[in-house]
Amino acid sequence: MAESRWNIPHRIVTERLVLRRYQAADAEQMSRVVTASSQYLAPWMPWARAEPLPPAERAALINTLIADFDERRDFTMGIFLRDAGDYVGGTGLHTRLGAGVLEIGYWIARDQQGRGYATETVLALTRVALAFAGAERVEIHHTPDNVTSRAVPQRCGFSYDGRALTPVPGVPDAEPTDMWSATPEHLASTPFASTPRPHLFDVDGHELPWPA
Ligand SMILES: CC(C)(COP(=O)(O)OP(=O)(O)OC[C@H]1O[C@@H](n2cnc3c(N)ncnc32)[C@H](O)[C@@H]1OP(=O)(O)O)[C@@H](O)C(=O)NCCC(=O)NCCS
Repeated sequence: MAESRWNIPHRIVTERLVLRRYQAADAEQMSRVVTASSQYLAPWMPWARAEPLPPAERAALINTLIADFDERRDFTMGIFLRDAGDYVGGTGLHTRLGAGVLEIGYWIARDQQGRGYATETVLALTRVALAFAGAERVEIHHTPDNVTSRAVPQRCGFSYDGRALTPVPGVPDAEPTDMWSATPEHLASTPFASTPRPHLFDVDGHELPWPA
């Protein structure tokens, strides 16, 4: 994976959620939640087909995600409930699309769906990407028949950019993919304009100011 220049906060706090870099201590909770949802996630998330991972592989995976984040290669995060601390899903700002572009991915545990957590995550990460990290563009890709995934960028006011054969992580051949994008102009429109900015924190817990 190529070195990136992105500076992404360690922890992002929204109205109901904490989006943060994983840590070694997440292993047990991650294992329980991902295993319980793996059958549900498998058609859409190729990595879920390898679940449940043995503990040593889980620990190695978390170490890789931490190293990628800390060395600014790629930014995978857990989604946790702000009040209860429960792990409810995964997300990330991904760098594979190249200069100026960050891609958002997301999944929500089966028993936590229908509460708007994916939408809240995407609204926050899009703002972080465009207004804090300096991305020119944020993209969301999904397979055409993934209707619950499609509803997320739609609900967030992203622009639909069409369908193309695109490489999908974890899949050998390019697959038809629907593509959505947001640029800084989108932040002036609903729902971004009516959503409070999340609070951002560095690895030491210091709050990071938003650029003026
Ligand atoms: C894609 C996925 C994350 C969507 O989950 P979701 O729970 O439908 O999405 P949200 O968390 O944003 O919740 C939206 C739903 O909650 C409802 N909702 C409740 N409170 C809400 C709130 N405060 N804000 C927004 N929506 C809210 C919405 O009306 C919507 O329900 P509806 O679909 O019946 O209209 C989920 O289906 C999933 O994990 N799928 C498998 C993995 C996957 O496909 N990932 C994407 C790969 S591209």
